[in-house]
Amino acid sequence: MPAGSSQTWDPQRYARHARFVADLGEPLIELLAPRPGERVLDLGCGDGALTAKLAALGVNVVGVDAGADMVAAARTGGLDVRLMDAHALTFEREFDAVFSNAALHWMRHPDAVLEGIRRALKPGGRFVAEFGGAGNIASILAALMEVLRRRRLDGQAIMPWYFPTVEEYRRKLEAHGFTVDSIALIPRPTPLPGALADWLDTFAEDFLRVIPEAEREAAKAEVSAILRPKLCDPQGRWTIDYVRLRLAARI
Ligand code: BEZ
Repeated sequence: MPAGSSQTWDPQRYARHARFVADLGEPLIELLAPRPGERVLDLGCGDGALTAKLAALGVNVVGVDAGADMVAAARTGGLDVRLMDAHALTFEREFDAVFSNAALHWMRHPDAVLEGIRRALKPGGRFVAEFGGAGNIASILAALMEVLRRRRLDGQAIMPWYFPTVEEYRRKLEAHGFTVDSIALIPRPTPLPGALADWLDTFAEDFLRVIPEAEREAAKAEVSAILRPKLCDPQGRWTIDYVRLRLAARI
C-alpha cells in the first residue's frame, strides 16, 4: 500500500474552495440524530464547520484532526478540538457516537481506524460516517494518472485515498464487532464553487507535488482539458463525480 498522504491543509484555501464539503454533510447529521447532551466524537473534523453545528444542537462534541492548522482554525470558534491521528485514537469507552464526514478516505489503514473507533465508543454506541467509496472521482483519478503517465510518473504508487466497496467496508465493520444498520454507495455529482484547478490545488497535492514545479500549471491545464467535455458545462461550471459511502453502525 502506498505511504499515506502528505497533503497539507490551509484553512483559508479550504474555506474558499471546499465549503461545500460541510454544507453537503448536513444530511449525515440527520442520520446521526444526536440528542442534546450526548457525547460525540467528530473524526477528521477539519476546520470544525460540522463540529460547530453539532455543538449548536446541544451535543457535547470533541473534534479530532491530524492537520495542525485546521485544528487551530477550529479552536478559534471555542470548540474542543484536538490534534490527533485517527489511526491512533486514545479514547476509551467515552462516546455515545462517532461521526465522520469526508475524512475516512484519507486514512489508508482502515483497520487501525475502526479499532480506535470501537474502543472510543461506549457499549451500544453508534458510528455514522460518509466518505468516498468505490468509483469516487473515477474520471479525475484517470485524468491524473494519464497526465502523470505522460511524464513517466506512476500515479498508482502515489494514490493517497481509500475508496472501498460496500462489501469490503461491511466486512471490516463486522470484523471489528459492529452491527451494520445501513451502508450504501451514493453517487453524488457535486458542483464546484470554482475551477477544477482549485479543487486539484485543495485536494490533490500528493499528485501535483511529484511534478516539477515549473510544469504544474501545465499539468493542471492538461487534467482540465481531459475532463472538460465530461465534467464542465458550456457556462464553465464544473460538476465532479463524487460517490459517497454512507453508513450507520453500532457496537
Ligand atoms: C471526497 O470527498 O470524496 C474527496 C475529497 C478529496 C479528495 C478525494 C476525495
